[in-house]
Amino acid sequence: MASGRKKLSIIGAGNVGASCAVWAARRELADIVLLDIVDGLPQGKALDLAQAAPVEGFEARIAGTTNYADTAGSDVVIITSGLARKPGMSRDDLLAANTRIVREVAAETARYSPDAVLIVVSNPLDAMVYVAAKASGLPAHRVIGQAGVLDTARFRTFLAEAIGCSVKDISALLLGGHGDDMVPLPRYASAGGIPIEQLLPRSQIDAIVERTRKGGGEIVALLKTGSAYYAPAAASVQMAEAILLDQKRILPCAVRCDREYGVGGYWVGVPAVLGASGCEKIIEVELTAAERKAFDGSVGHVKELVAQVEGLLRK
Ligand code: NAI
Ligand code: 2OP
Repeated sequence: MASGRKKLSIIGAGNVGASCAVWAARRELADIVLLDIVDGLPQGKALDLAQAAPVEGFEARIAGTTNYADTAGSDVVIITSGLARKPGMSRDDLLAANTRIVREVAAETARYSPDAVLIVVSNPLDAMVYVAAKASGLPAHRVIGQAGVLDTARFRTFLAEAIGCSVKDISALLLGGHGDDMVPLPRYASAGGIPIEQLLPRSQIDAIVERTRKGGGEIVALLKTGSAYYAPAAASVQMAEAILLDQKRILPCAVRCDREYGVGGYWVGVPAVLGASGCEKIIEVELTAAERKAFDGSVGHVKELVAQVEGLLRK
């Protein structure tokens, strides 16, 4: 019997996918389907999580599967399938393997859920959103990448620690691709409404910007066997929540920019309004010459990756 709740499918039941299921279930956002290529993994994790419901007191059906038919009619699908990087690897080293995986996954997902909004997480993120959009054939506003919510969360964590205030009071913005050339914008960061440039010396802000840019690599170096997953999953679920509940949240996401920011048809990180139909609006902020140069550099890198992806998609 249908539950009346929305439906969230998560492709890839590894570290990020399973953590997404936990965050989403605890928030009772939707019924959840976890899908993976490894038989037993999604079923086992779904059963385990369902058995946490009486303890945590959440209402959500959680199912695990290897069959896309079980994802049919999803409102939102989070794509986390693919390889994660290990020490010494950049996100770009995952390009060929994850292009193949994301291409197949996005096509199958769209076949069963043609009205869904896709949130892509697999790396290299900005190129994988492009692959998902091409392979799914879904309208551009319904294919969105998660990176900026995670990267600003890292920025906000480091700022709160340095200022000595609650993370809840930090608001921040970051643009560009999900690489070490991402563009945190200290000018647009504040603590309780106070610009952080009035609270911290320039040298400390610069160090925090640098740590944010390399935030993913810092965790890979510590874990040694894979990459971050709690914060990436929390970030992905915040985006899913904005869409499932039509919240109109302004979140930094990889969305398709055409004329916006002069990008010309690529998915890159910019502030976007997320609601029931996906990316409902892109917000253009004013940039200084230095910020613009950094943004253009980061977008240039995304364009190079997409050129490689186009070559792979032609094969
Ligand atoms: P993981 O290795 O723990 O999980 C990946 C899962 O994908 C595995 O369970 C695997 O069996 C599954 N998979 C592989 N091929 C598949 C296919 N064809 N169909 C269905 N499932 C398939 O990796 P983790 O840590 O969960 O990371 C997943 C991806 O997310 C990686 O590419 C990683 O780089 C990326 N990532 C992106 C972040 C972002 O901010 N955009 C943050 C963290 C990770
Ligand atoms: C991160 O930033 C690996 O992209 C992932 O943690």
